[in-house]
Formats: sequence, structure tokens, C-alpha cells
Amino acid sequence: MKPDVLIVGPMYQPTLDALDREFTTHKLWLAPDCKALLASCADRVRGIATTGFVGADAALIDALPKLEIISSFGVGYDTVDVAAARRRNVIVTNTPGVLNDAVADLAIGLMIAAARRIPQGDRFVREGKWIKQGLPLARHVTGKRLGIVGLGRIGQAIAKRAAGFDLKISYHSRHRVRESPFAYYERLVDLARNSDFLVAIVPGGNETHHLIHEEVMRALGPKGILVNVARGSVVDEKALVKCLQEGALGGAALDVFEEEPKVPEALFTMDNVVLQPHVGSATHETRTAMGQLTIDNLVAHFAGKPVLTPVT
Ligand code: NAP
Ligand code: 8YV
Repeated sequence: MKPDVLIVGPMYQPTLDALDREFTTHKLWLAPDCKALLASCADRVRGIATTGFVGADAALIDALPKLEIISSFGVGYDTVDVAAARRRNVIVTNTPGVLNDAVADLAIGLMIAAARRIPQGDRFVREGKWIKQGLPLARHVTGKRLGIVGLGRIGQAIAKRAAGFDLKISYHSRHRVRESPFAYYERLVDLARNSDFLVAIVPGGNETHHLIHEEVMRALGPKGILVNVARGSVVDEKALVKCLQEGALGGAALDVFEEEPKVPEALFTMDNVVLQPHVGSATHETRTAMGQLTIDNLVAHFAGKPVLTPVT
């Protein structure tokens, strides 16, 4: 008998196909009536497969009396109610490590795109403006000061790439990273004041909500560029729009937003902003690895073995 697994939301198709092969699956987001689907399988579902986008809330966890494990496709698990899972002794797993390179690549890409105005140049050529004039000059990248907010797995992968651009790297996190050669700032506002680029790569959730607030953005300053590849909730979006409108912040490159997929319309018309639809890990190679780890955690658990990457 294959274990019953509830899949909460859409994910990479090859991962869905593999989940279908390994388990008896129930696809919540495809059900015309979610309540009816849950009622039909709740007494058999032992596992949830979910994503960072949809997570699993307390109501869903409590609706599944036989639930043993929630396996989330993604490293960030701020959308999973981990406290509710713990109350029920339900294991939660995520997919750390396998997406470091993809997210770090995008962070560097966004930083350069914003500084060198790559999307603006692309539009300029397509719109036939080059015939009449040249593109205004952009900002230099090599040798500038990079502040990393969160020197964890992905933050360190960003630092490794940034070293190739001779960037002077500093960071902020709650704890100093002992083995790190980079300057540590206990106060984020001080890091921002001493950075040309500030890249956010911390987890979402209550603790980091609006960690990057107006004072931090003003400290980064009129020539500074903010890159957010963390979570939308980490940046105070209203303050961001205000700082950009006033010229208090030089520019921003954003992969994540407070109310995804809704993006503040004010950003659409700003020429100093680069926007992406939450694609930090969105390569076939990385999504394949994330999917494999999502499934491996479920398979290990149902085989009576320890899961590979528990959320602790
Ligand atoms: P990680 O290894 O756990 O690193 C997180 C870092 O954030 C650590 O340096 C941690 O250091 C710091 N941090 C945590 N809470 C903090 C706080 N309140 N204030 C300041 N620093 C804090 O995680 P990771 O694997 O690098 O992933 C980081 C996050 O990136 C994920 O949780 C996810 O939200 C986001 N992400 C986004 C995408 C995307 O598609 N855009 C893809 C993957 C991940 P301390 O514990 O010392 O504070
Ligand atoms: C995913 C992410 O796209 O891993 C994360 O934390 O933000 C991204 O890799 C997202 O979680 C969807 O599953």
C-alpha cells in the first residue's frame, strides 16, 4: 500500500509526476471543492507535500488526524505553521543547500542588472531609441561595497561570487559568523550606511518582518541599490516606494514582494527598479534537485528512517 500524500499546491511537473509514482496523491489545488476532497481522504493522509508559496496552515494540519510529515519544496518555510505541526508531533522538512547556487546567481545578476541598467538598455534598443541617442551612464559594480543581510548558506554563496568582482564584503546577522573574513555589523543600519549594494537573504516570518525599514533604506542612500531575494515581508514596501520616489534610495532589484504575486503599481513606472517574479531557484536543474529532496524526505520517513533535512 502506497502512503497517502496530500499535495497542497502546484509544483515542478516532474516532481508531481514522481510524487504520483511513489504515493497515492490527492491534489488539493485541483479539487473543485477543497472541503469535499479533504473529507474524502483526511482519515488516510499521512504526508503533505507543499511549497514555500502555499505552505500548510494550522487549520489544514488539524484537519488531518493521521498526518506524520510535511515536506516542503523550498528552503524558506515561513508559510508552514511549524508550531502547529510540533503540537501534533508532525515532522517538517525543507530543501536547504540544493538551491544556493541558483539563488546566489540571481542575486548577483539582479545587482548588476540594477547597477548597469541592463533591462533599461534592452528596452531602449527594442523601442528604437538608440537611433536618436545613447543610454545615460550607469553605476560601476567592481570594487564597490556589498552588504549582505544574512550570511547563511545562500549569503555565503553570494559572497563567493562577489569576491570575483572585488567587492568589499560586509554582513549583518544576529550572530557573528566566526570563520568569516568579512566585516560584521551588529546594527543593520550601520551596514547599510557603509554599503553601495545591500542584498537581503534572510528567512521570512515575524522576526525579520520589515527588518529593512525606512531608516535602513535612507542609510543606504541616494546612490545605494537594494536587492531583495529573501522574502517580500523583509522589506517595508511602502517605505521602499516612498524612498525611491523621493530619491532617498538610488535603486532596487526585487525578486520577492509582500503580497505576491501582487506588486505595488508605483514600481512599474520607476526607471531605477528591476522586477522579477520570485524566480531565485527557478532553473530546471535546481527545481529537479529540490523536488528530489522533497520526495527523499517523504520516502525516508515512510521507510521508518530519519528524514534528510528536518526543520529544527
Ligand atoms: P540560512 O542558511 O538559514 O541563512 C539565514 C541567514 O539569515 C543566517 O545568516 C542567519 O544568521 C540570518 N538571520 C536569520 N534571522 C535573522 C534576523 N532576525 N536578523 C538578521 N539576520 C537573520 O538560510 P538560506 O538557506 O541562506 O536561505 C535564506 C532565505 O532565503 C530563505 O529562508 C528564503 O526566505 C530565502 N530564499 C529565497 C529564494 C528566492 O527564490 N528568492 C530562494 C531560496 C531562499 P543568524 O541566525 O546569525 O541571525
Ligand atoms: C521557491 C524559495 O521558489 O526556497 C525558497 O525559499 O523561495 C523558492 O526556492 C519557493 O519556496 C516555492 O516553493
